[in-house]
Amino acid sequence: ASTLGASAAEKGRYYGTAIAAGRMGDSTYMTIANREFNMITAENEMKMDATEPSQGRFTFTNGDRIVNWALSNGKRVRGHTLAWHAQQPGWMQSMSGSALRNALINHVTQVASYYRGKVYAWDVVNEAFADDGRGSRRDSNLQRTGNDWIEAAFRAARAADPGAKLCYNDYNTDGINAKSTAVYNMVRDFRSRGVPIDCVGFQAHLGTSLPSDFQANLQRFSDLGVEVQLTELDIQQGSNQANMYAQVTNACLAVARCTGITVWGVRDSDSWRTGANPLLFDASGNKKPAYTSVLNAL
Ligand code: XIL
Repeated sequence: ASTLGASAAEKGRYYGTAIAAGRMGDSTYMTIANREFNMITAENEMKMDATEPSQGRFTFTNGDRIVNWALSNGKRVRGHTLAWHAQQPGWMQSMSGSALRNALINHVTQVASYYRGKVYAWDVVNEAFADDGRGSRRDSNLQRTGNDWIEAAFRAARAADPGAKLCYNDYNTDGINAKSTAVYNMVRDFRSRGVPIDCVGFQAHLGTSLPSDFQANLQRFSDLGVEVQLTELDIQQGSNQANMYAQVTNACLAVARCTGITVWGVRDSDSWRTGANPLLFDASGNKKPAYTSVLNAL
């Protein structure tokens, strides 16, 4: 096929991108997004600060713009994200203890219920592990409510939208290391105790080299029976970018439960990684060598 989405679909996978509501008036951007991608993530518009700016008052206007555009154009949606230490509204940042735990569960319940039936997979919890080389939980106000905050969030999400796949999502978990092993152990524990988890998202914000055990890491999670997805892929531009994009694509295709890949933006000029030029289209919307490399690998 001649587009990323259609080619991925021939392999039983999806190929997605992140969309920013503020760019939806840009026709070059929207033309590429509509043509190439069949899974859509809101870059910021479904996060906690966007959806519950003051406690108990929910706003879905910008999330809806993205979700409705995606669904009306035959695309699926990854929900991002219900629980995260970052991009919390101010009122939540200053909360703690059981009041915060209750507010978290209410947030998960309200947002997942609002979007029930419209979301293919939710990143229920984002970035809950530290980068300390020991696989510790990240310290945060949410973590300080008790170590069971993650499973509580997953249970609330399942109750609110039983049809959505529920994912844990993180970065620096792309190779086999202390952090990814801690996530692996959590997922194995959740599966053994019946905590509802269906998928693991690997953000894959990559530099100029790929961990040698990238595919083996995806495989070990897949072997636990969960789907694996590359959820925020972008690769620093260097001599190796196109080749790395091909390797990442091939790794996903080689893992049975790797169901899809999402790149974190459309053009280099849309990327959150200023100056890295990490995406598949240049600032003018032209296909880069990395694009052709992905299309050929699919
Ligand atoms: C980033 C967005 O791309 C930026 O626009 C925003 O300013 C900060 O967040 N991990 C995640 C994403 O899970 O939500 C982040 O997105 C990038 C890192």
